[in-house]
This record gives sequence, structure tokens and C-alpha cells, in this order.
Amino acid sequence: MNTTNLTVSPLAGALITEHFSIGQHGLEIGGLAVGDLVRQFGSPLYLYDGATLRRRYRALAAALEGFADVYFSIKANPNPHLAAIFVEEGAGLEIASGAEYLLARRAGCTPRRILFAGPGKGEAEIDLVLRQGVGEIHLEGFDEIEAIGRKVSAMGLKQDVSLRINPGRQAQGGAMRMGGKASAFGIDEELMPEAVEALKRFPGLRLKGIHLFAGTQILDAGILLEQWRYGLELAARLAELADCPLGSIDLGGGLGIPYHSGEATLDLEAIRTGLPQLRAMKAANPRLATAEMLVEPGRWLIGPAGIYVSALRSVKMSRGQRFLIADGGMHHHLAASGNLGQVIKRDYPIVAPLHLDQPVIDNTSFVGPLCTPLDTLGRQTALPELKTGDLLAVLQSGAYGLSASPVGFLSHPMPAEVLVENSLARLIRPAGTFDAPLVNMSEIPRSWSHAAQ
Ligand SMILES: Cc1ncc(COP(=O)(O)O)c(C=O)c1O
Repeated sequence: MNTTNLTVSPLAGALITEHFSIGQHGLEIGGLAVGDLVRQFGSPLYLYDGATLRRRYRALAAALEGFADVYFSIKANPNPHLAAIFVEEGAGLEIASGAEYLLARRAGCTPRRILFAGPGKGEAEIDLVLRQGVGEIHLEGFDEIEAIGRKVSAMGLKQDVSLRINPGRQAQGGAMRMGGKASAFGIDEELMPEAVEALKRFPGLRLKGIHLFAGTQILDAGILLEQWRYGLELAARLAELADCPLGSIDLGGGLGIPYHSGEATLDLEAIRTGLPQLRAMKAANPRLATAEMLVEPGRWLIGPAGIYVSALRSVKMSRGQRFLIADGGMHHHLAASGNLGQVIKRDYPIVAPLHLDQPVIDNTSFVGPLCTPLDTLGRQTALPELKTGDLLAVLQSGAYGLSASPVGFLSHPMPAEVLVENSLARLIRPAGTFDAPLVNMSEIPRSWSHAAQ
């Protein structure tokens, strides 16, 4: 088998060439045969290549050098062993819950390099990060200004905070658009003056900067640059309203990766080319000139590094249609089933790792073991003749995979997660039940108190 006679889709072929290798026994990740890894760790299984994580971090950091620092949005994949690689490379981490804070710390991230964003922060989570330290808290609404402001005063602290702003203009082109409409995320752009006034009531809250996140899965460099330009414009308005220089400008994540045939790859070179203009815009404003810029992508950094592998349990014909029924499905990979917010359900790149050069049969359905037609990972997919025990691999599965899936549904065991680095495979989450956390959740007490009490 080699890359010249593959029968996989053009996108899968391009991804294999860029991120994987092909050996005597088919697809390899980090130089190890996928078949051997499944034999060793069982199926289903998530596999990640540490070298790809490092390569992607370095490529993005190099493209943005002198413009913005890179934070990894840990929600894309909260396994601390993976986040630890980014931390080792120099990334900060963006978190959105108390448990993500514990995961970030477990990944070796210093508190100063952790940003806490996300709506509806709980009292126990706020307490945890304030007690243990956090770089910035991103305030998403007036309630949060009040609640965190009071807490900080009561604890006698000074805490750096940023205002997360819901921009008034829609960022076109992303799959999920978060600007220009009513939103639970951030403070509406038009309410910035009130937010600045509200902050003044709490001297313990030090306004450090602004945070924007206008959309995800953006594949067009021009759209991203335009969003960042608009972010700088908003930052200038905020600095003027607050009448102080800003210390940080968080431009959000949203950098996309191709999942479907015909989708482009985000052009880092085009981004690099657009940066001098943004740099000049920032330098020209004395209130922004010294601010640290940062981006906080998840998907782009980790998506291509991971694959989800399952084994065939049954091959069945029904009224002329071939069904491949595997031991894994949407309970481990909701996004690949098209049920994580996708408007149109289209297949992720799927390959049979042991049969990459075999003639394919079109119109195959690749489904999981759940009793619902939603549990379909491949629709009308071209896949070779396969039999029970053969493997199927979903590429581009490193982001929003396991942790974004209904792992308890039908109570199948959790898949293991394995990290391959330097030709060694390391179990980074054992297979098991879905309730085995990787951190001690008792650090975040569960309590309820009602505002009216
Ligand atoms: C505040 C925030 N930052 C970063 C991200 C990461 O987005 P992406 O994985 O698209 O880069 C998200 C995703 O929802 C987010 O809500």
C-alpha cells in the first residue's frame, strides 16, 4: 500500500498525506499501525498524534508571530495529556468551567496563562479560580460583573477581567455564527458604556481587555482578518469609554478545518499577509499599542491530530443498501454523526485503515450500535468490501469528539484514548464507564442558593 494507489476520497487522501503515513499494514499514526494499536488497546478507540499537535501549534504561532499569542481552547478536547503538549510548546489555555480549570492545571498550565470565559459561571467555579489564581476572567454579562465584583471585594482581591463583547456585526462564513444577533454570550456591543460604568462600582475588578468570539469553523482567511479588524475597532471603543489603555485583546478562536470534500484549508499565509495592516492599526492607537493580542482556537490546533476508530460487528444488506454496523458511533462522536448543530448532515472523511487501496462500493451506510437512525456516521459513503472485525476510521476527529458526545446513551463503554509520540503509544484515558473523570470533581462543591433567600 502507498499514497499513489489510494481509493479513499480526495479529502481523506490529502489528510493522510499531510498527517499520517501508510505502511505494510495500512494506515499509520505517528508511525504506528492503526491495526496494531487497536489490537493493543481495543476498540472503539480515539488515537492522537502528538507530533501533529506540536506541528500545528508551531505553524500557527509562527504565522502570528509578533501579532498574537496562541491559547488552546480546552473545550475542543479536554484530555489534559493533550493540552499538556500545547502548554509545553508555550500555549496558554482558555477554559469555560471549573472542571476545565482543574484539567488545565493538571496539564501543567500556570494560573496566569489561564483565561476563564463562558456564560453562567457558577459560584463554586468562581470561588475555585479566585482562590487558586487565574490570568483573566471574561465577564459575559451584568450579573457576572456584579457577582464576581462582590466576591473579589469580599476576598480582598484584585482580579484582571475582560469584557466579552457580542459584536453587532455578523461574521459571515463560519458554521456557527455568534455575532450580530441576540446571544447568551457576551455583552451586546451597544451596551459597552453601561458595562464600563458597572465595572467602576467594583475596584477589585481591573479591566484588562476585551474578548470577542464571533464564529467557529471559519475557512476563509479574509473573513477571519475582517473579524480581527473589527475586534480592534471595538477594542479602541472600549479603551476610549474606559479611558485607559487595554492590556489584552482576545480575538477568539474559530479557525476552521476541512471536514467535507470541496472545503478549503484555511490559508495561514494569507493570514500572515494581512497582519501588518492590523499591527499598524493597533500601533497607531496609544490605548491599544501595548496590549497583548491573543487568539484561542480549539478545532484548528487539535482536530486533524485525532482519529476515531471502530470495528465492524456486522455487515448487512437491506433492500439493496449495504449497512456496516460498528461497535462505535454517535455516542462517542456526535459531531461526525452530524447531530452537533450541523444544518446539513455530511460525512466526515472516513476510511477503512487496513484497506486503503481496495476498490470501493458507493452508497454504503456506516452506523453505530445505538437503537436510533441518528447513529449514522457515514451516509452513501464509498468504502471497500469489509467483513466483521475490519476497522473504520473517522479522520479530523481530534476536536469536539468524545467530550461533545452523549457518552451515557445506551451505556456502551467509553472508548480509550491513546496518544502516540516518538513511536510510543500511551494510554491517556482508559476505556470504561462515562463517569470516570480525569480530575477530582469534589473540588467544585455542588450547592444551590436562591437569590431571593
Ligand atoms: C469562547 C470560545 N473560545 C474559543 C472557542 C474555540 O472555538 P474553535 O474550536 O472553533 O476554535 C470557543 C468554541 O465554542 C468558544 O466558545
